[in-house]
Amino acid sequence: MTATLRANDLRVRPLGGPFAAEITGGDLNEATDDDIETIRRAIRDHLVVRLRGYRMDDVQFTRFVARFGDLHTSPDYVKDRKVYVPESPLMSVVSNIVENGVAVGHHGDGELDWHTDLSFTDIPSCYTMLCAREIPPTGGDTRFTDMYRAYDILPDELKSRLARLAIKHQASHNPQYGTWPGWDHIETRDVREMPGPIHPIVRTHPETGRKSLYLGRRFGAYIPGLVLAKSEALLDELWSYAGRPENSWSQTWQLHDVAIWDNRCTMHRRDSFAGLGRRRMHGLMTKGTRPE
Ligand code: OGA
Ligand code: MN
Repeated sequence: MTATLRANDLRVRPLGGPFAAEITGGDLNEATDDDIETIRRAIRDHLVVRLRGYRMDDVQFTRFVARFGDLHTSPDYVKDRKVYVPESPLMSVVSNIVENGVAVGHHGDGELDWHTDLSFTDIPSCYTMLCAREIPPTGGDTRFTDMYRAYDILPDELKSRLARLAIKHQASHNPQYGTWPGWDHIETRDVREMPGPIHPIVRTHPETGRKSLYLGRRFGAYIPGLVLAKSEALLDELWSYAGRPENSWSQTWQLHDVAIWDNRCTMHRRDSFAGLGRRRMHGLMTKGTRPE
C-alpha cells in the first residue's frame, strides 16, 4: 500500500458531555476515504465534531469540506453579498473585524440566538464547518444543542399533536425587522404574511432514522393553520424543551480548530463578545435534502 492510501491514525474521543466528540491525530490534508468515513460516522453518532491540531488553508479546507457533499451557500451570497475569499467563493466569513472601514465578514460581535443554518430555505444545509482563523483571548464560544433530545423529552401528548403540524421559516427579515438582501419589497411585520418555506416541526434524520424537533429560529416563526396567539403559545412551549443546559455543549475555540455540526439535528448560538477582541471564522456548508 502506498503512503497516500494508508488510513490516518485519527482518534475520536467523546467530549464528556451528552454529545460532541473531538478528532485528533494524522494529517487531514492527506485524508483517505476511510478517514472521511470515520469523521462522517463521528458526526452521525456525536452530532458535533471538533477537529483539533490540524492546519488547513482556505483551499485545503474547501477541498476537505467538498468530500462530504456538494458545497452549498446562503442565499445572501447568491443575491448580493460580496465574495470574501476569492479562492473559495462560497466561503462565509463570520467576523467582527473592520479593516480600513470595511467589514472583513458578517455577523459582527453581537449575540446570535439559537438557530439552525438555512432552515429558511427549501433545501437547508446538511453540515456546517467553521474554521477558526482568529480568536479573541476570551469569549466568542459557540454553543450547540441536541434536537433529537429536545424531541425525545416532549410529553407524548405534545408529540402526537406535532405529527400534523409544520412551521413556516420566514426568509425575508432579520430579528430587528430589517430585510435581507433581495427582500426589501416585503413591508409586512406580520409573521403570518412573511414569505418563507414550510417544513415539518418534527423531521426524521435520513441516516439515523431518529426524529428531531426542527425549530429553525424563534423570530418570525409561524405554525400555519393556527391563530397567531395559539401559534406563539405552542412555539414558546416547544422552545422551552430546546437548548436545555443538560442537552447542550460549548465549543471554546483554539486557533485552527474546525467545528462540524449537522444542521438536521442540532441548533447553535453564540453569545455577544463585544469588546473582547478580534474573531474571524471561515465557514462552508454542504447541501442537504428537503426536511421530511
Ligand atoms: C454560523 C454561525 C456562530 C459562530 O456560521 O452559521 O452561526 O460562533 N456561527 O460564529
Ligand atoms: Mn449559524
